[in-house]
Amino acid sequence: MQKLAILGGNRLNGEVRISGAKNAALPILCAGLLTGDTLQIGNVPDLNDVATMRKLLQQMGMAIEVSGGEVVLSAAQIGKLDAPYDMVKTMRAAILVLGPLVARFGEARVSLPGGCAIGSRPVDLHIKGLQAMGAEIHIEHGYIHAQLPKNGGNGRLKGARIFFDLVSVTGTENLMMAATLADGVTVLENAAREPEVIDLAHCLRAMGAKISGDGTDTITIAGVEKLHGVSYRIMPDRIESGTFLVAAAAAGGSITLTHTRADILDTVLEKLTEAGAKITAGGDRIQLEMNGRPRAVNLRTAPYPAFPTDMQAQFMALNCIAEGSAMVVETIFENRFMHVQELRRLGAQIDVEGNTAVVSGRAHLEGAAIMATDLRASACLVIAGLVAQGETVIDRIYHLDRGYEHIEAKLSQLGANIRRVK
Ligand code: EPZ
Repeated sequence: MQKLAILGGNRLNGEVRISGAKNAALPILCAGLLTGDTLQIGNVPDLNDVATMRKLLQQMGMAIEVSGGEVVLSAAQIGKLDAPYDMVKTMRAAILVLGPLVARFGEARVSLPGGCAIGSRPVDLHIKGLQAMGAEIHIEHGYIHAQLPKNGGNGRLKGARIFFDLVSVTGTENLMMAATLADGVTVLENAAREPEVIDLAHCLRAMGAKISGDGTDTITIAGVEKLHGVSYRIMPDRIESGTFLVAAAAAGGSITLTHTRADILDTVLEKLTEAGAKITAGGDRIQLEMNGRPRAVNLRTAPYPAFPTDMQAQFMALNCIAEGSAMVVETIFENRFMHVQELRRLGAQIDVEGNTAVVSGRAHLEGAAIMATDLRASACLVIAGLVAQGETVIDRIYHLDRGYEHIEAKLSQLGANIRRVK
């Protein structure tokens, strides 16, 4: 089991290059199933989740070549329509093959994703939407079996009006992909507005899909017979960007992010300014300067464009050493405070009541041995380690490797004293 050892107290200075967005790359790789033509995808991050998704698609018959951040994929010879449990259980985003498989091949067998550390995370909205589009779905032995009715149907899903009870990012993405090849028009109401949904829509439109309204809560897709290949470049990762900015705001210093975008980080940049950071942004760069102790900031997570749940844990680390106390309300997932226990081991003062945590800022944290529990919680613990006095050793950092490309290399470059130990 690999660990990260961090000696806290260094300020962060210098430039860091932001990678492509994990949560845009995952659905866009699945979009490759929608055509027999070749897709050339650029700026694909080198992450464990992306590697898992590639393996899943390859075992279905997708031809995939990787060179650096370029991935060339072709679903001309798909032989298997299955997403087996052993792959889905490590990466819930595997559910994103369901919509494309049913839309193009009329059938799919996808394992139900198990629960995960941050919540039960059901996929009922994905299933309900496909049923509304005419798919017959039954669940047995932990698998979702979906197929188009044999009798009479023209072998295609049919356009439908679908209302999401809850805003679901991958739910929106799954059904948007399925609808591109459906017979007729599909309208997704209460759709997710995340930038990664827009990036997927841009890629699908470039493949010939007829999609409008992406980025709003109502997305309209007019089905077409076929989609064609495309060359597409993944958007920058806004959560990786936010994570580095919060790290510098907590540790102090002056960093510049390159190959990123500021227009998709409004609420995060606002909170960092409120905490006392000086932020300037222009082109594909964001600069943050922080001197002195941050001020505590209240947070309430909600679907985009509100404050992102994927940044909640990182800001909690900042609040642990901030001046004053802060209220953190997590409204998306029912169990996304797993990092609290670990932060307490570093001396943090946090009281949790249901989905609300009250963090009383302390002047210092003390380094200790702690354990990562999920992807963004591990990022929070890295930030806490950067500011804690003495050494912090973080175990189970495979969680971190799922979503952050070479994080210790990037942090070392900025002056952090961090190394991977066996
Ligand atoms: C996506 O997960 C992201 N993952 C998550 O990022 C992110 O935290 C989440 O959106 C919220 O922004 C990817 O894009 C691959 P949801 P997703 O469906 O789509 C409930 C990370 O750190 N729900 O938007 O799985 C669900 O339980 C990961 O990169 C249903 O009840 O999240 C949750 O409470 C972690 N039924 C809420 O909706 C459904 O059918 C939002 O979930 C679907 C969702």
